[in-house]
Amino acid sequence: PLPRPFAVPLPVPPVARPVRSAHGTDFYEVEQREGTAQILPGRSTTVWGYDGIFPGPTFAARSGRRTVVRVRNGLAVPTVTHLHGGVTPPESDGYPTDLLLPVRCAPGGADAGMAAAHGGRTAVGYRSYAYPLPQRAATLWYHDHRMDFSAPQVWRGLAGFFLVTDAEEERLPLPHGERDVPLMLCDRSFEEDGSFRYPAPHDHDAFPDGVLGDVQLVNGAPWPVLDVCATRYRFRLLNASNARRYRLRLDAPAGRSAPFVQIGSDGGLLAAPRAVTSLAMAPGERFDVVVDFSAFPLGSELTLRNTAAAGGMRDVMRFRVVRTGKDDSRVPARLSTSFAPLVPDRTMPVRSFDFRRTHGPDDRQMWTVNGRPFDTDAVLASPRLGRVERWRFSSDFHHPVHVHLGQFQVVARGGRGPGPADAGWKDTVDVRPYEVVEVLVRFTHYQGRYMLHCHNLEHEDMAMMANFQVV
Ligand code: C2O
Ligand code: CU
Repeated sequence: PLPRPFAVPLPVPPVARPVRSAHGTDFYEVEQREGTAQILPGRSTTVWGYDGIFPGPTFAARSGRRTVVRVRNGLAVPTVTHLHGGVTPPESDGYPTDLLLPVRCAPGGADAGMAAAHGGRTAVGYRSYAYPLPQRAATLWYHDHRMDFSAPQVWRGLAGFFLVTDAEEERLPLPHGERDVPLMLCDRSFEEDGSFRYPAPHDHDAFPDGVLGDVQLVNGAPWPVLDVCATRYRFRLLNASNARRYRLRLDAPAGRSAPFVQIGSDGGLLAAPRAVTSLAMAPGERFDVVVDFSAFPLGSELTLRNTAAAGGMRDVMRFRVVRTGKDDSRVPARLSTSFAPLVPDRTMPVRSFDFRRTHGPDDRQMWTVNGRPFDTDAVLASPRLGRVERWRFSSDFHHPVHVHLGQFQVVARGGRGPGPADAGWKDTVDVRPYEVVEVLVRFTHYQGRYMLHCHNLEHEDMAMMANFQVV
């Protein structure tokens, strides 16, 4: 039984509270465990959640203030937690073989052996991830990154928001409090009994586009509805889907479509707002937008739609304008002065990364970066700390390319300037079939081994990942 659209109120994940704070550091404890969610009518769904919930708790952190999250693995499988968009030292970045084994697991088992064989730093039961956050205010998210298993483990619920704020953002009169709403978009499918349906492990060859669901969730609820005041709201849109792409449009009464005012991208505030009527989002990307509901009479219903999808999956969620409210927010013409374009120079390194599906010797499909599937020992690039580089991403297919550690700026797409979705600091960029995307990137703060990969999670699990080493 599929849920009726626009009947369930939009849930907002709870904000995590530190267990203690000392010396400029906030310490959190979170447990990965099974929990029960009511997603379908009359059914319950077992989720693998941070604190047993999906999405996990939202972390509210400050730029430059250290956040330490001690994760306890109360599940029956190894996990890895990555803070997506974080400027994080390598030992806390959630490298896919840095496994956190379950608390109830004998050390030295097969997974530990596998991790050790790949140079992984294995921990048993607990691991503390330290996030110094030397970065601008931005909408980050955290999710599972276990080698070969990110896709099924995120599908079962291991993902949440991690918001970073800073003084510049706090000074702006943007909508805040209850009018600053994170929206995690993802799709899932379900078995008759309400459990998540995911293909058998490593049957990925059957899903070259990745795994799609037939129920659209926002913050874990199917096609939810949010009652709003006739005021401005800030929405932090995150595409947390394994493989689904969105082209979002807000349909207003009388066939009008309402503008989104984009104020931020993956890496935080844009220099200036941009009004757009449609937003293309690939997996991993975030868009911060402001919507002004005062333009609509009380009782209006606005529907967020995904025009890239068909059938029932075209609906995402609904907003109902139910009351008037005082609004002292605005969107200033100048949002950020800390946004500076990276400046290319003639001697900077230029590197190419080609994302392509090929056929291996046994005729199995191989998902490759520069011709090879992920090899934990191979290093494809050694960028120098602090140096601007030009990176070129090409592909045979839709691949959302995500780079750890470094934020980048898109400077060219398909031989032209950046596209409408490319504004601002990015850590994930959609590379469309047979298209070349050029970015300027600079790695700061930490040296060591990091990775770039396709953020279609099934492609990622099929080894479409590569290492680079910041030196
Ligand atoms: Cu959102 Cu390497 O991942
Ligand atoms: Cu891909």
